[in-house]
Amino acid sequence: MDKRIPIVQLFKSPTDSLIDTTINVKGWVRTKRGNKNVAFIALNDGSIITNLQVVVDLAKFDDDLMRRITTGACLSVDGKLVKSQGAGQSVEVQAENIVIYGEADPESYPLQKKGHSMEFLREIGHLRPRTNTFGAVMRMRHHMAYAIHTFFHQKGFFYFHTPLITASDCEGAGEMFQVTTLDVSNPPRREDGSIDYEQDFFGKQTALTVSGQLEGELGATSLGAIYTFGPTFRAENSNTPRHLAEFWMIEPEMAFYDLDDLTALEEEFIKFLVKWALDHCQEDLEFLNNMIDKGLIERLKSVISTDFVRLPYTEGIKILEEAVAKGHKFEFPVSWGVDLASEHERFLVEEHFKKPVIMIDYPKEIKAFYMKQNADGKTVQGTDVLFPQIGEIIGGSVREESYDKLMTAINERNIPMKDMWWYLDTRRYGTCPHAGFGLGFERLMLFVTGMANIRDVIPFPRTPKTAEF
Ligand code: 4AD
Ligand code: MG
Repeated sequence: MDKRIPIVQLFKSPTDSLIDTTINVKGWVRTKRGNKNVAFIALNDGSIITNLQVVVDLAKFDDDLMRRITTGACLSVDGKLVKSQGAGQSVEVQAENIVIYGEADPESYPLQKKGHSMEFLREIGHLRPRTNTFGAVMRMRHHMAYAIHTFFHQKGFFYFHTPLITASDCEGAGEMFQVTTLDVSNPPRREDGSIDYEQDFFGKQTALTVSGQLEGELGATSLGAIYTFGPTFRAENSNTPRHLAEFWMIEPEMAFYDLDDLTALEEEFIKFLVKWALDHCQEDLEFLNNMIDKGLIERLKSVISTDFVRLPYTEGIKILEEAVAKGHKFEFPVSWGVDLASEHERFLVEEHFKKPVIMIDYPKEIKAFYMKQNADGKTVQGTDVLFPQIGEIIGGSVREESYDKLMTAINERNIPMKDMWWYLDTRRYGTCPHAGFGLGFERLMLFVTGMANIRDVIPFPRTPKTAEF
């Protein structure tokens, strides 16, 4: 007897034909309780948040075997599936045979009782996926990734793979992790003392990408509509609950889209994903709603039923200045031209409009070189989607398609373009209006799980001074 049934099937598929037959389940012990006649083992195999109750008639099992079954141990159990008498569960298993695959010494196994702090769980990142909370978050990560591919596939976008190692800094923020095989303690030098990257692996200075956008534009200007979905890397030294040094980004890029098309796609995309979470992650969402954030499900429902606001930056600044005039205190000053701080964004979203805001038409000085310039000479067609609790969840723009205007923006910013000839060629040969955006996958995960810290929505977070596991 060993035809394992994942526990999810016992709770989510019809079990009538299995009732009163012997089945096999395998998983990890969450708890064991009972009395001198019977033990109840809560078994979890990760396929669903719900534990399966295994009922053990102690008269039929060896004392020594039962002593070795403790929280964290891994078991294979043959037993009869029966309708459960207890409240709250539909079926349980009456154990007939138990094999211990691995014990977990109760003296040292760190996940004994419930209620560990998130900080402590980060220190045991190798074991935290075995907790209810992290099991729920990681299953939801999978469902959201699947939803992303589904959304774009249904719309006829092609999944386009952009490189992780690159010689160009898309965002121009100088936050790149260098990739080199040179001996860092003694690199080859040119006559002027500078490092001779011609002797490096790629024959030039390279780094991990901060965004797949520039290569994504090559995809859009040939295949029409593409999306990337991969890891990106930023060496920004921001120790906040919203920043990772390694995060996943989804970057669609579309030929022939204007600003209205772009913001419409941003809104449709997020609503599709949030609805997908409500439709496909019910048990995990209910758990997170009960244990982590009581307003979670209500907030998700409200986002799919409201229209997002379109707000020009200039109007946003007016609203903030009026708030200041009425006595609202911000830590950072507000005036036309400043890059909004998260307290400003959250005021607009959570207090003023009380719904998601898509801010558009930013001052060109605070945005990247590739954004389409407006006729006013001051603003560009950039968009940030601002969300309750998260702040910026999407950054995107219409792209400047005119070669001359693009070159002006590049020169104004003193961007070294010698490695970017291929990007400029898109504007030189058959240039076209196009637009795209980037959704931070972990920012989305914060929103759909209600978790407070971005370190807790990715299995193994990378942040300044942390690269364990
Ligand atoms: O606004 P960003 O920097 O935009 C770009 O990279 C564009 N090239 C995207 C595009 O138009 N194709 O980043 C996009 C999104 C942000 O809105 C945020 O959700 C997320 O990526 N993000 C981060 N997430 C976690 N940790 C960080 N350090 C992040 N930096 C950006
Ligand atoms: Mg941004």
